[in-house]
Amino acid sequence: MTPRAHPRNITTVAQHIIEQQRAHPTATGQFSWLLSGITLATKIIESYVRRAGIANVFGGTGDENVQGEQVQKLDVIANETIKRCLGYRGNIGILVSEEEDEPRVIQNLKGDGRYVVLFDPLDGSSNIDVNVSIGTIFSVLAKRDDVWPGEGPEKHVLQPGLKQLAAGYVVYGSSTVLAYTTGDGVHMFTLNPDIGAFVLHQERVTMPDKGKTYSVNEAYRASFPDGVQRYLDWAKGENYSLRYIGSLVADFHRTLLRGGVFLYPPTKKSPQGKLRLLYEANPMAFLAEQAGGAATDGRSRVLEKVPREMHERTPLVIGSQQEVARVQEFLSAGS
Ligand code: AHG
Ligand code: MN
Ligand code: MN
Repeated sequence: MTPRAHPRNITTVAQHIIEQQRAHPTATGQFSWLLSGITLATKIIESYVRRAGIANVFGGTGDENVQGEQVQKLDVIANETIKRCLGYRGNIGILVSEEEDEPRVIQNLKGDGRYVVLFDPLDGSSNIDVNVSIGTIFSVLAKRDDVWPGEGPEKHVLQPGLKQLAAGYVVYGSSTVLAYTTGDGVHMFTLNPDIGAFVLHQERVTMPDKGKTYSVNEAYRASFPDGVQRYLDWAKGENYSLRYIGSLVADFHRTLLRGGVFLYPPTKKSPQGKLRLLYEANPMAFLAEQAGGAATDGRSRVLEKVPREMHERTPLVIGSQQEVARVQEFLSAGS
C-alpha cells in the first residue's frame, strides 16, 4: 500500500511570516523569531486550557491585579508562560502585560531588544471555569528611536495603535485558532494537535461589511450613553440577533468572520469603558481594519488614540464598516 502522501499544503506560522517578509525586503527574520516565541507560549497555555479541570488550574489565586480584578490561576500561568517564552528571544526589549503593574524591561533600553510586546495573557478569565472560549491577545511595537536611553520605558510603550508592527490573538475554542496581521491582511491558522503546529487555513480574511448581529452586555444598558440605547432599540426593530460570550477574543472572532458589531460602551461601573487600549482594543482594531472593518471609541478611530497610561481603558465599537457607522450615527445624533 503506498504510504499516504504528506499533505503538500502545510504552511506553518514561521513559514508564512518568512513568505510575508520576502514581500517586504525591509523586514528581517527577527520578527519571525519573535512570533515563534508567542506561538510557543500559546501552545503551552493551550495545553493547560484543554485539561484545566484535571490540571488544577480552575479558580482564583485569591489575589487582585492592578486592574482590581480577581486573578485566576490560569491568568498567572499564561502570564508567566509568555514572559518565559519571550524573555530570552534576544530581540525583545520591553514586555507589557495586563497582569503586571509596570512595563518589564528585559534589556537595557540601549540594548538591541528593539521590540515592545504588549499582551493580555488570558482574555475572558470569567469563562475559564465554565469551559467557554477564552483567548490570548498580543500587540507588537518597535521601540521609538527618539527617546534618550536614560529615559524610562513609558515613551516606548505609550504609542498610538497606528504604530503597531503586528497584532493577533489565539482563541482557545472548539479548535485553537491563531489570527495575526503584520499590516498585510489577516491570516488564520488552526493548531493541529497531531503535529503540535499552527497550520494556515485562511489567508486575507475579510470581515463582511454588514451583519445583523450586535454583541453587548445589555445588563449595563441603563448606564449606556443615550445614543447607544437608541441604537439598541433600532437594532431590535430591525430583527438583529444578540450574541455575547463575555470573552472579547471570542466575540471579536465571530464578528470578524460573520460581520456585525461588538460594543463595550462607557458604563457607570466603567466610565471609560472596561477594555484596555494597549493590549485589547488596539490589537483588535488593527485586525478589524486590516480585514476591512472599523473600530472607534464612539467618537474617534481607536488606532489614532494617544495612550496616556499603560492600563488605560477605552470604550469600544468594533466590527463591520456599515454597522460601526450605524452606531456612530446614533451617537452623533445627540448622545
Ligand atoms: P479579561 O479576562 O482579560 O479581564 O477580559 C475580560 C473582558 C473581555 O474579554 C470581555 O469582552 C469583557 O471583559 C466582558 O466584560 P463583562 O463581563 O463586563 O461583560
Ligand atoms: Mn481581556
Ligand atoms: Mn486578561
